Amino acid sequence: MQNNMSHFSLKSLFGAVFLFFAFSFGLKAQDGAKLFKQNCAVCHAVTDQKLTGPGLAGVYDRVQPGSLSKDAWLHSWIKNNEKLIKSGDAYANKIYNENGKAAMTVFESLSDPDIDAILVYIKNPPAPKADVASVPSAGSGEVKEEKGGIDPLYLLLGAIVIIALIIGALRSVRHSLQNSYNRKEGKEENPDITFNEEVKQWLGGHRRLVGVFVILVAFGGMKSCWDACYDLGVYYDWETQKGYHPEQPIKFSHKLHAGENEIACQYCHNSVEKSRHASIPTVNVCMNCHKAIQSGPEYKGKEIAKIYAASGFDPKSGNYTNPQNPIKWIKVHNLPDHVYFNHSQHVVVGKQECATCHGDVKKMTTVEQKAPLTMGWCIDCHRKTEVAMEGNAYYDRIHKALKEKYKGQYDVKFTVDKIGGLECAKCHY
Ligand code: HEC
Ligand code: HEC
Ligand code: HEC
Ligand code: HEC
Ligand code: HEC
Ligand code: HEC
Repeated sequence: MQNNMSHFSLKSLFGAVFLFFAFSFGLKAQDGAKLFKQNCAVCHAVTDQKLTGPGLAGVYDRVQPGSLSKDAWLHSWIKNNEKLIKSGDAYANKIYNENGKAAMTVFESLSDPDIDAILVYIKNPPAPKADVASVPSAGSGEVKEEKGGIDPLYLLLGAIVIIALIIGALRSVRHSLQNSYNRKEGKEENPDITFNEEVKQWLGGHRRLVGVFVILVAFGGMKSCWDACYDLGVYYDWETQKGYHPEQPIKFSHKLHAGENEIACQYCHNSVEKSRHASIPTVNVCMNCHKAIQSGPEYKGKEIAKIYAASGFDPKSGNYTNPQNPIKWIKVHNLPDHVYFNHSQHVVVGKQECATCHGDVKKMTTVEQKAPLTMGWCIDCHRKTEVAMEGNAYYDRIHKALKEKYKGQYDVKFTVDKIGGLECAKCHY
């Protein structure tokens, strides 16, 4: 009997563990929707609509993976399509050429499970809405995500509570059964041990199982935490981000504009001195010049035509008569959401040069990320950089007070950390 009892619990335990994994796995499809939106939706729809890249509906039927399996081909394509194209893979080169050699972003940072999740999502796209059928960002996927989003950990805890209740109920039944059996056999009745004692006995007898279980629960907790942190962008890895320079929808060159033609950064990033954000120029700013400049040195009219398509400009008539189609620039620099960074404070008040943080953008054909944007990077500069005090209206007021406070320490440098540049709340919400 004792044995049967532990069999029952063992099965339930495995049941609970299985449930946990089944649900974690179920959630993968939701992760897929999110990953797709974060990484792919700028260029791909899951329908057959073509954006920058081909619509991905039916992509499983299309790919001709050569000697690889379809999954393996898709994995290596999504991880690093450049490598696959260079390797001479026939299908990779075919689609590359068919799409006017438009470059797809390389995704070395996506793990295999991430890619699997995305592929599951591509295979089972959200049901299209009647009117906005093929716009990925119009997001029926998003709504779904919220509905399905029960944390697997809660499910596991729920399962444990239910199992505990069942064990409790069965325990008294078992106890009386065992006693009546003992009575029939003429054996002694089982002493009435308390539930606590019985649990202790059971735990003592199943150390290994309990150990495994504890590890699983701890792992589950850690995983939820890890995922939550990931959403905040905490585990951002400089090695994969270094020199990040996504291919942009228009081959806009800073080297040509800010370098050779010496257009001031502020002409286009016109809020950089006034606000927190540097802002990316709207297509109207481009049209200030490109209404007249209809051809460039490298791509002739081809790339500039995209500006016209975006603004609705018809170069033949010289009027804005065509439908507009906003340009979807891909963001290069990304701080996690919990960090506050203010451009005007650094550029105007702090008198920092763009190049200190962004490198020599004037020489870049495509912008790339030059600084790690980690907390250590911010702090390091705040420790080293002196506050631009002299002739700074903002500081004239507190200049005196600070001088007073540090009187006698003549060689003290007023670095940013001295004015609170290391306080958590200054940079974190
Ligand atoms: C910057 C735009 C861009 C982004 C972002 C992008 N792709 Fe692509 N993708 C393309 C282009 C363009 C092609 C067509 C091949 C070429 O020109 O390189 C393509 C082709 C593909 C193909 C092959 C399609 C076919 O018809 O055989 C798959 C699969 C694919 N992309 C998946 C993805 C996934 C998954 C993501 C997100 C992780 C993604 N892409 C992100 C631009 C992009
Ligand atoms: C003619 C307009 C124009 C001028 C002038 C210009 N930029 Fe830009 N900049 C853009 C556009 C458009 C983008 C978005 C596309 C891209 O990333 O290339 C951009 C993107 C950037 C980015 C990346 C933003 C991100 O996504 O994180 C940085 C940094 C930047 N510019 C810095 C500069 C600096 C520094 C200068 C002056 C040396 C400058 N820009 C001059 C138009 C301009
Ligand atoms: C202040 C004027 C000015 C603004 C604003 C401007 N451009 Fe240009 N653009 C130029 C000049 C000058 C050229 C080079 C023409 C030449 O040398 O023949 C050029 C060339 C180009 C080319 C052709 C590149 C080539 O090699 O074929 C593209 C594409 C382009 N610009 C995109 C943009 C975009 C996108 C914007 C808006 C974000 C923009 N430009 C804003 C002045 C401007
Ligand atoms: C002290 C460092 C620093 C300096 C100086 C600086 N930037 Fe930035 N820049 C950043 C950081 C950090 C981000 C990312 C902000 C984010 O993701 O919220 C960024 C983002 C940008 C972006 C993307 C749009 C945005 O606001 O997120 C542009 C464009 C840009 N910077 C242009 C400039 C220009 C132009 C200058 C000079 C006038 C400049 N930056 C000076 C650190 C700096
Ligand atoms: C290249 C040097 C440099 C880097 C890198 C830098 N800062 Fe700063 N930061 C400054 C300077 C200089 C000031 C002083 C501005 C002033 O006088 O108010 C400042 C001030 C600040 C302040 C205001 C502090 C206060 O007490 O008022 C905040 C907040 C801040 N920075 C956030 C950041 C964040 C977040 C990052 C990283 C994403 C960062 N900074 C990276 C140079 C830098
Ligand atoms: C000068 C700006 C600045 C100050 C001051 C600052 N942080 Fe941060 N912190 C950041 C930035 C930027 C990130 C994002 C780093 C990344 O994405 O790698 C960050 C990330 C974090 C993270 C996420 C984990 C990590 O290392 O990436 C934690 C936790 C954190 N900060 C806590 C603090 C605490 C606690 C303080 C006060 C003692 C503090 N921060 C002060 C800028 C700052």
